Amino acid sequence: MKKYIDLRSIADYSSLEEAGQIIRSGGLVLFPTETVYGLGANGLDEVAVKKIFKAKGRSADNPLILHISDFNMLNEIACGITEIEHKLMNAFWPGPFTIILNRKPIVPNAVTASLDTVGIRMPSNEIANKLISYSGVPIAAPSANISGKPSGTNINDIFDELSEKVDCIIDGGPTDVGLESTVVRVVDGIPTILRPGKITPEDIKDVVGKVQIDKHIFSKLEAGEKVLSPGMKYKHYAPNSKCILVYSDNNELLVNKINEISSLYKTPLILSTSENVQKYEGKLVIDIGSKYNLNEIAKNIFTDLRKVDKFNPDIVLVEGVKQEGLGLAIMNRLIRACSHNYIEV
Ligand code: TXA
Ligand code: MG
Repeated sequence: MKKYIDLRSIADYSSLEEAGQIIRSGGLVLFPTETVYGLGANGLDEVAVKKIFKAKGRSADNPLILHISDFNMLNEIACGITEIEHKLMNAFWPGPFTIILNRKPIVPNAVTASLDTVGIRMPSNEIANKLISYSGVPIAAPSANISGKPSGTNINDIFDELSEKVDCIIDGGPTDVGLESTVVRVVDGIPTILRPGKITPEDIKDVVGKVQIDKHIFSKLEAGEKVLSPGMKYKHYAPNSKCILVYSDNNELLVNKINEISSLYKTPLILSTSENVQKYEGKLVIDIGSKYNLNEIAKNIFTDLRKVDKFNPDIVLVEGVKQEGLGLAIMNRLIRACSHNYIEV
């Protein structure tokens, strides 16, 4: 790392001009967005984009999102935009919403993994927005983490794995949402959620009257199965220990099941909602937040998953939440973190 810009308590964004210069000249910048931190480079510079894949250890067939600061940038990189796509962008931008559109030839193959589409998002985080406009180019950025690890939601969590690989770190404190953006592709006129996030199926339905959810957001992929989003193929968010996700509509059954399984192990660790922490007496517990405040759980879940490895437990039991609203996105991340080990009672 060559440069550290601390914007945790100052709202003077003039220092971002230098970070924008680093992007323009082909460097890597770690920056906050409202969802998670991004590992950014000039999205129109193939050589710079390839540095991202190297730094993350990311497979070249998993495309990146281009982040834009205004609608002029959109027209430079995407074409053939339909009315329904315009409606979605107008409703959810700037914000935690990514749309897959037809790309223009100016977008390097390294960004799109040679697909004829490109993922685009206009973040609402002011630091991200200013950084993009100072750069004057769309910023290609995946979540800031080594591939396979939970996405970075604060600098402290990712400093050791990424600081030596980037030219600049912008610290904007913990991110607001804590989960990556909702990824949508309009298929045959129907918005199709490829990755759930803060913008829920209900939000999308309210805007355009229809929505569908790709079945792969929960199911395990069969070998050779085709997917609409390459990211669905990869292992994600997983702690080193074996993890099991447990859910029940009935809280007593949930707690009993977790107590029953955890008693079979020597050093279990439980990720529990605040309401149930007391019910796992004598066991090691991480409080993931109130089940009545899914925003809080979303905000902390990646940093909580990162804490797990410090305890080196022989089993991790994770309480699930109801799969509706933001709960859909939380459960999508948890089921991946648990490598699809899921029990519903
Ligand atoms: O909130 C977010 O989206 C964060 C912040 C930094 O903006 N970014 C992020 O990027 O989560 P990443 O690379 O970790 O996840 C992008 C996802 C991947 O699953 C990728 O496969 C999918 O979006 N994706 C990107 N371009 C695509 C395309 N053209 N077609 C289908 N899926 C695409
Ligand atoms: Mg990611």
